[in-house]
Amino acid sequence: MKVTWSLRDGSKKTADVASGTNMMEAAVANSITGVVGECGGNLSCATCHVVVDPEWASKTGEVGDFEDAMLDATEAERANTSRLSCQIIADDTLDGLKLIVPI
Ligand code: FES
Repeated sequence: MKVTWSLRDGSKKTADVASGTNMMEAAVANSITGVVGECGGNLSCATCHVVVDPEWASKTGEVGDFEDAMLDATEAERANTSRLSCQIIADDTLDGLKLIVPI
């Protein structure tokens, strides 16, 4: 599946992501500036914060309770469709996913 990240500097980057990979891992593997993933996907850092393009928000699943609490501690201000990208797992239904990196 393909994922496109929109970066803070206005550029975009698209990459192929294998099913089962989380979007933090995919961003780090593709050197996406602004997605760090300091805790390795353990829901304890919030450095993997992304904003899901609104047209994709319903397809990326529900925000978990703990994720919800962590989203209040992101560096960039939380948006309506903010997610911790380590909690979004690639699968074929997300082919074409667009993510916005807020920092
Ligand atoms: S990588 Fe730390 S919360 Fe997602």
